[in-house]
Amino acid sequence: MTKTTKKKAVPLQEDPIRHIVWKGDRLDVIDQRLLPRQVRYVSCRTAKEVAQATSDMVLRGAPLIGCAAAYGMALAARRCRLKDVVAAEPVLRRARPTAVNLMHALDLMLAVAKTGPEAALPERMSAAAVKYFQDDLASNLRMAELGAALLEPGSRVITYCNAGALATAGIGTAVGMIRAGYLAGKVSHVYPCETRPYLQGSRLTLWELMQAGIPATLITDNMAAHLMKTRKIDAVIVGSDRIAANADVCNKIGTYGLAILAKHHDIPFYVVAPSTTVDFSTPSGDRIPIEERSILEVVEVFGAPIAPKGAKAHHFAFDVTPHELVTSIVTEKGVVSPADGENLRKAVKSAC
Ligand code: MRU
Repeated sequence: MTKTTKKKAVPLQEDPIRHIVWKGDRLDVIDQRLLPRQVRYVSCRTAKEVAQATSDMVLRGAPLIGCAAAYGMALAARRCRLKDVVAAEPVLRRARPTAVNLMHALDLMLAVAKTGPEAALPERMSAAAVKYFQDDLASNLRMAELGAALLEPGSRVITYCNAGALATAGIGTAVGMIRAGYLAGKVSHVYPCETRPYLQGSRLTLWELMQAGIPATLITDNMAAHLMKTRKIDAVIVGSDRIAANADVCNKIGTYGLAILAKHHDIPFYVVAPSTTVDFSTPSGDRIPIEERSILEVVEVFGAPIAPKGAKAHHFAFDVTPHELVTSIVTEKGVVSPADGENLRKAVKSAC
């Protein structure tokens, strides 16, 4: 019999994936469209290139989109002209509509640009972008700690899409909680859903979990109900792209269905997201703009057709889970439980 050696779990502070690297005059990012087959970097030298990389899904995940936009604004500041930064802002803002972290980062960077001398723009904007990135990393670590504490020892968990290192500055939101949970004996096994149509779960989350030494078994999205019914699933843990003021949660298409399944099977449903994902200016989830992407991403897989030529299709990239289906929202400022508008305000606004 062959003896298999179990991979040792990677400590949270060790970053095995250098997926976003700021070089001062350019931003290098791993092209996530090629993972897990190939690790190749794309260099962005202008804000426009950062915006293009974001729209094209070279980089993705709400907090990472925010970090990249902050660096994009720093690139726009390199010629010491405020007008370049002001012009770059709407270009970046249009890159993707749903993840509010993008808008949050741009508002902050624009304010930084406008306060201080034009001659010092490059240093000021670069420092602000680096700080934005480091703050996100610190948030991830704090959420991981707060979230892991909610789990029962030995939990078997389902996660969805990719809310890991690749979607953030560091260890991730949902995946950060899972990794911290595993290190603390709270998580024993992870089931990432493959996440049609873009397959973030199979291509990215499973890849990350395997590199981090976390035991994981891939499931297709339509296996989640069966697994909940027949095996013991103790929690569902996901990230978010925007949380409305009433605590409704927008996340990758399919999250809503998973939340209904969790409710039916009496399984806790946790959302892990930094305060930069909370949008108090949007009263409820039905007001969140839902991105619709090319139907080619639905009718083809890696360029190979999987539907008849000329097929009609929908490609809604996100859906909204009503807050009633959410057990807790874990932010770096505290755990919102039960997940409602009042508790969200108390946790996020009062801690500002
Ligand atoms: O379209 P994507 O891949 O950018 O969508 C990402 C998600 O929906 C993630 O679950 C979300 O951004 C949380 S990331 C920490």
